[in-house]
Amino acid sequence: MTDPRWLARGEATLPDGTRWLAPAEAARAAALAYPKRRTEYLLRRWAVKHAVAAITGRSAEPASLAGVEVPNTPDGAPYVLVDGAPLGIDVSVTDRAGWAVCVAGRRVGCDLELVEPRSPAFVRDFLTAAEQRFVAARPAGDDRDAAANLIWSAKESALKVLRTGLRRDTRSVAVSVGSPGEDGWGTLSVRGAEDTPMTGWWRREGAFVLTVATTEPGPRPVPLDRPGSLATATPRHSWLARPSPR
Ligand SMILES: CC(C)(COP(=O)(O)OP(=O)(O)OC[C@H]1O[C@@H](n2cnc3c(N)ncnc32)[C@H](O)[C@@H]1OP(=O)(O)O)[C@@H](O)C(=O)NCCC(=O)NCCS
Repeated sequence: MTDPRWLARGEATLPDGTRWLAPAEAARAAALAYPKRRTEYLLRRWAVKHAVAAITGRSAEPASLAGVEVPNTPDGAPYVLVDGAPLGIDVSVTDRAGWAVCVAGRRVGCDLELVEPRSPAFVRDFLTAAEQRFVAARPAGDDRDAAANLIWSAKESALKVLRTGLRRDTRSVAVSVGSPGEDGWGTLSVRGAEDTPMTGWWRREGAFVLTVATTEPGPRPVPLDRPGSLATATPRHSWLARPSPR
């Protein structure tokens, strides 16, 4: 299985307790003092574990999910161990406003963003000149916000594939996007001076935009479960009630 597959999980489905975590994950979660960071960490693990369960046919019961561990390499990239053995499939994971998406495949990166206003300074500082023109050509409001967040998200996805994250200048990778097709997926391409060109996909999902980048051109991502939950999702900021360390 190398074709990209994806699923989304919302914070509202996170269980109480830690029975579904591997011991190292439970320890890491416990060490995250800020509720926002702890919840995001847990939600990302929840999404990856459910994706792995769906791909491998494994039960999604807590004890079974605890056997799926999602550590990080020193650069921060996630990988998956199933009962201690490498899964053999790459994963990328992202969260925003109470929702997490996992994409599994080969050399994939994914990023989820809210469609929200981005300041002119943000667009000027982080997007290339051509990307700035793409954004400016959209009518002000949702269209322009969607364009700015789409370009930004595609850069984050690409920088995850390259394993650098935002250590690298976001203007060093240039994004171009195609219009979405009937299934909601649009194409994207990412070029950087010295890197292998990347292709990918993007889709608008309600209040969110999701991008997937890869160095392996192939079919569009396939949903691992009932599609549409993200499209009707309400962005959630539950941690605002408890923003301080416990
Ligand atoms: C990678 C990065 C762009 C993610 O951006 P974000 O919008 O804050 O967060 P997202 O929710 O979209 O993604 C978070 C996930 O990105 C993944 N990630 C982090 N660093 C990564 C890297 N170098 N390559 C690929 N994926 C990476 C992780 O899976 C992380 O979730 P996890 O820590 O729970 O496993 C950002 O964290 C970054 O630039 N990191 C590089 C610098 C850094 O501080 N790294 C810390 C690791 S030592």
